[in-house]
Amino acid sequence: MRTKFAVVLAGCLLPFGAWAASAPIDVIPQPRHVEAGTGAFVLHSRERIAAPDDARAQEIAGFLRDAMHRQTGGEWIVGKADAGQARIALRIDPSIAGEEAYRLSVTPAQVEVSASSDRGLFWGVQTLRQLPVRGHGGRWQIPALRIEDAPAYAWRGAMLDVARHFFPVDYVERQIDAMAYYKLDVLHWHLTDDQGWRIRIDKYPKLTEVGAWRTEADGSRSGGFYTQAQIREVVEYARRRNIMVVPEIEMPGHTSAAIAAYPELSCGGKPIDVPATWGVFRNVDCVGKDATFAFLQDVLDEVIALFPSPYVHIGGDEVPEGVWNDCRACAQLAAANGFKADEQGLHGYFVGRIQKYLASKGKTLVGWDEILEGGVSPQAIAEIWHLPSGAYGGSDAILKQAFANGNRVIIAGPFYFDTPIDDMTLQDIYRTDAFAGPVYAAHRAQVLGAEAPLWAEHVTPLNGEAMLYPRLMAFAERLWNPDARDYADFDRRVQAQYPWLAAQGIAYGPEDRDIVDYRFDFNPMYLRWRVRADRGFDDLQMHYTTDGSEPTARSPWFSDVLDLYAPTAIRVAPFRDGVQRHASAQFVITPSLALGKPVTFATPPSAKYSGALNDGILGSDDFDDRAWAGWQDADMDAVIDLQQPTTLHGIDLRFLQVPDAWILLPREASVAVSDDGKRWKTLQALTLDPDPDGAGASIHDAKFRLPAPVTTRYVRVVATRYGKPVAGDQTWLFCDEITVR
Ligand code: ACM
Ligand code: ZN
Repeated sequence: MRTKFAVVLAGCLLPFGAWAASAPIDVIPQPRHVEAGTGAFVLHSRERIAAPDDARAQEIAGFLRDAMHRQTGGEWIVGKADAGQARIALRIDPSIAGEEAYRLSVTPAQVEVSASSDRGLFWGVQTLRQLPVRGHGGRWQIPALRIEDAPAYAWRGAMLDVARHFFPVDYVERQIDAMAYYKLDVLHWHLTDDQGWRIRIDKYPKLTEVGAWRTEADGSRSGGFYTQAQIREVVEYARRRNIMVVPEIEMPGHTSAAIAAYPELSCGGKPIDVPATWGVFRNVDCVGKDATFAFLQDVLDEVIALFPSPYVHIGGDEVPEGVWNDCRACAQLAAANGFKADEQGLHGYFVGRIQKYLASKGKTLVGWDEILEGGVSPQAIAEIWHLPSGAYGGSDAILKQAFANGNRVIIAGPFYFDTPIDDMTLQDIYRTDAFAGPVYAAHRAQVLGAEAPLWAEHVTPLNGEAMLYPRLMAFAERLWNPDARDYADFDRRVQAQYPWLAAQGIAYGPEDRDIVDYRFDFNPMYLRWRVRADRGFDDLQMHYTTDGSEPTARSPWFSDVLDLYAPTAIRVAPFRDGVQRHASAQFVITPSLALGKPVTFATPPSAKYSGALNDGILGSDDFDDRAWAGWQDADMDAVIDLQQPTTLHGIDLRFLQVPDAWILLPREASVAVSDDGKRWKTLQALTLDPDPDGAGASIHDAKFRLPAPVTTRYVRVVATRYGKPVAGDQTWLFCDEITVR
């Protein structure tokens, strides 16, 4: 076991940089000032903690007692303040500047945590928890030192999106434990969105009876919600750990689940299902109806009663352009107020009205940065997600606008923890300075801090903790101690944290790569399909099934590569220590008489989109998934040589349409056969229905069913492009694949 602490020169208060080289304690976030002492405080099996007589200080002492018992097995007793005699003492010291600041002093004789408030005491206790090591003879000891510490930013948040996927109470509480351990202090709870409403509202029970559940593409039902008792439990659990829970109730957009429950909330009032796909939806709250506000105020009343936080987050993001254009009530409201024909005036009206309502209840509105567009009150807090660096279409302008308008801000854009680990590594976050640049420097007082949102479209309880840890440690250190910049030292401290995370049952992830990335390809020479798993941990086992069922830790498994030699469908999931670490993925090989047979083209597909048309691997709705073959300058004209006379019953073609990417269905597709590859007999032609004005990505089948089986050697498929110039360029035709039955 490596030595956790080396004694260095005592006596002077060393800044972090000078200290780090010589005295490795493993605390995250790195305290601002550490001074090493001589010797260590050796823990007895029974210890008494003296703490001030107020309820919160006693509670914090109890928290320390329980944590130390779990960690060292020692029996600690909490007593009242007579700090002079106790070996371990919590003390209120009004001379310590800063509500969250604390001083931790350890000598061989005494451990003392001092702060001017209970908030600081609690953070000092978190540092103390990270210090004990086993010394000679296996006895627990705390190295002598003196720490003076305080955070740079007050709002150190993580956001959990429980709407896209539901996360149970014990899961949320485990994250609160870890957040507190790393001194984060805000849990932003994203409780509602298009795909799920997760908080029980007594006055509108259908919000959870209907809005908490959706039917997935495979027909299964999924969802869940929190009762009000559970919400109270989580809020209280967080309070005891210095964490404020800020609820987010999304409005006026991202409200499909609420509209599925109460269709009258929307402009048209049409019934809809809770969606099971992702994106920005055009079903939003109608701003023109007073009933919308009555409803939302009722909801907010119940929310306010559950959350003592002075802040309520109302979302406010991603209202699609023109959604209110076709509504008479909304148009009347816009006309009466002289709003322009866009939605910004109505959006501003909406946010302003909700803001005033919240203010009347003593609450401050927090919203995503779109709330700035309609001229929001300076009292509101803007959560900046459009990155000043330009990502997500953002710019410095949004930040400048917020500052000029007097709003306080929380920075979220650089810290989207749903970003694949491969694309946003532990080190990337550590090196990110979210508050760099003159715009920030000039408005430091308006910068509350930052938040790490974990959006959950592609995150479930299985992989959520891998997305959060260890990356959340880098985020926590950035906000607490901006001077700590030595990545090598940070990484050393991260390694020392893993046993604690594991002891909490936290399924932390890799530091610089995804839990698993797959490749699925076909080798026509050997008629061999290969699933390759690029694993984030060497001890990840890829368990799989072939009967469609979910893999378990008892299913057969592979490490890197699984080779298959016949059409089948397999379901794969990664397991570590017998625990599943990600939702399963499916790999399907579609049977076809054309598998691996020679294909020739009149004009080959483009070099960029040249996926095989007869590998049994069907393209997804991602045109860039390497499965699709694409043509821009020519029609598709492909001949498959089945190599011997073969009896066919039908041919299926699959085409992709993504109008935004200029990919359109062909106007027509036809199939011909030949015995010699020269003289062709057309079997059938089908017309398709390309839609240049459509939205999203969709896959269309052209199925040729032969009235009677045909025996032939060559099959020819011709598809004619839509071809009409869009913005001066030809459209694309994308095919995958040609299935011969
Ligand atoms: C957001 O990512 N729509 C705030
Ligand atoms: Zn309307």
